[in-house]
Amino acid sequence: MPIASSVFLFITVCGQKGGVAKTCTSIHLASVWSSKGRDVCVVDADRNRSAIAYGTRGNLPFNIVPVEAAAKATRFADVVITDGQASTEEEELKHLAAGSDLVLLPTVPKARSVELTVELASLLKDLNILHAVLLVKVDIRQKRVAEEARQALNKFDLKVLDGEIPLLSAFDKAENQGSAVSQAVDDKGRSDPRRMSGWSAYCSIAKQIQCLISKHSLDTSKTNSEFPLVA
Ligand SMILES: Nc1ncnc2c1ncn2[C@@H]1O[C@H](COP(=O)(O)OP(=O)(O)O)[C@@H](O)[C@H]1O
Ligand SMILES: [Mg+2]
Repeated sequence: MPIASSVFLFITVCGQKGGVAKTCTSIHLASVWSSKGRDVCVVDADRNRSAIAYGTRGNLPFNIVPVEAAAKATRFADVVITDGQASTEEEELKHLAAGSDLVLLPTVPKARSVELTVELASLLKDLNILHAVLLVKVDIRQKRVAEEARQALNKFDLKVLDGEIPLLSAFDKAENQGSAVSQAVDDKGRSDPRRMSGWSAYCSIAKQIQCLISKHSLDTSKTNSEFPLVA
């Protein structure tokens, strides 16, 4: 479904665990939309300030600001991505989620990560906030493990985005360089041969997120017009 460029997107990336690629996902979705000419701002809501540290190492073509500076910095952005911290605080999550069109839950294909995602998703469901799971760090030689995680998540009626983000050392290289994975180079300055599979995976996820948000806002406005508020 084509999406008008004037559509505004507010996305929060969060989870209850560290190391599940929240920051990596925030940076890469921002890089994808930025490469399509969108004005993007990443809001770093993690006290560790890892998104800001990532950006400081290189020269990413979008703003990354601490949450305290978000009000002014996001004034002209049409895509705002909040990189949340690993948290179980219901109140904190409620506030982060309230400012988003969609909460994205990166999950690694391991039992504990899946369990924590199910817990978090049930909270978001109660809050009536659109959310979706993204399988990350998937070893392509062990696709079956990812498939099992997907089935486990589906059993809880969770929306799991199609495709997975592959486990690639190119992501680590990109983080060290402060660049997107599409620019990752090895120690000798040669382009990482597998970098583009990581980049395409995030391109496909960005497209799906746009469709999901558009569909959700269409459904919501349809419901509102079917059941107009009576004064
Ligand atoms: N798809 C991936 N493949 C390999 N390494 C990854 C991938 N995504 C993230 N990483 C690495 O995993 C580590 C944790 O990622 P990060 O985004 O900082 O997690 P979080 O923000 O959830 O704590 C980082 O070193 C990052 O470079
Ligand atoms: Mg992080």
